[in-house]
Amino acid sequence: PRKVIYDTDPGVDDAMALYYALAHPDIEVVGITTTFGNVYVEQAATNALYLSALAGRLIPVTQGVAQPLVKTAEPPPDYIHGADGLGNLPHRLATQGKLDPRSSAEFIVDMARQYPGEITLVAVGPLGNLATALQLAPELPTLVREVILMGGAVLESGNVSPVAEANIWNDPHAADAVFTAGWPLTMVGLDVTHQVILPLSLFQQIAEHHQHIATDTLHHAVAFYSAFYSERDPVVGQVTGCYGHDVLAFVVLTNPELFTLQAGRVRVAVDGLAQGQTMMQRKAVTYPQHGWHEEIPHTQVCMQVQAEACRAVVQTTLQRDWLK
Ligand code: BDR
Ligand code: CA
Repeated sequence: PRKVIYDTDPGVDDAMALYYALAHPDIEVVGITTTFGNVYVEQAATNALYLSALAGRLIPVTQGVAQPLVKTAEPPPDYIHGADGLGNLPHRLATQGKLDPRSSAEFIVDMARQYPGEITLVAVGPLGNLATALQLAPELPTLVREVILMGGAVLESGNVSPVAEANIWNDPHAADAVFTAGWPLTMVGLDVTHQVILPLSLFQQIAEHHQHIATDTLHHAVAFYSAFYSERDPVVGQVTGCYGHDVLAFVVLTNPELFTLQAGRVRVAVDGLAQGQTMMQRKAVTYPQHGWHEEIPHTQVCMQVQAEACRAVVQTTLQRDWLK
């Protein structure tokens, strides 16, 4: 299986994605690094520990950056993920597990040095941990196998402004550093995540299948998240469901054949009205005097996805025999 560090701000779709990764035989989650985003970073770390404990897994969890590199943090969107990030759980079990004392960036660097060429970073929150790791170890891109990130939008509209997707908006400077670092990079943005609506009934079926606290908790969280999306977006409301954003970052790893990718140079607008926009140059031509020089590496951007097959993979994977 692929060694993955999961960088996350759980978050309901982050929780979905974590459980997908834990359930999938081709993925080995060697650590969970957390960031602010959907919740404050302390809550993100607590949720990562809690979700993995419920699933019977002891995985190193670190707490990472609490705020953006440069801009001022905004309060977390409690109306989307709940104040606790998991749809306001009515109660939590007492679980074992405590944080790894390292920062998320230190953990990423340590693991990349320990397993050169083997670690895949799957990042589904604001990108401050990856950007900080790059500052700590500029050679990191040569040590990491691949980065897959959920964030951005190329042709699709944004979800926090007409042009910006939330993860990129939350730390545009970090995102630009990640897009220009020179590691093999795949972007899973709204261009594809908005093509895949996951009905709430799918999570109900998964919960009924397992009859387990972990998948019951996920079902509760997705119910809250689906209520938000179904109210806001009439297309999603038709089925009562939600977008699975973060889980698609793992589906592209396990099932790349379901996606159409396009290569190009991606940069991020760090301020102004377009703040958080991911701009993609799909042609060979560069504009060196305007920030688009030859050295800017190519990102593989997901443009299309086979939605029905993607839903099926999510369900089949989560219904595997993976819970302890
Ligand atoms: C992204 O923003 C967060 O709210 C989700 O967890 C996802 O990572 C979607 O724009
Ligand atoms: Ca997320």
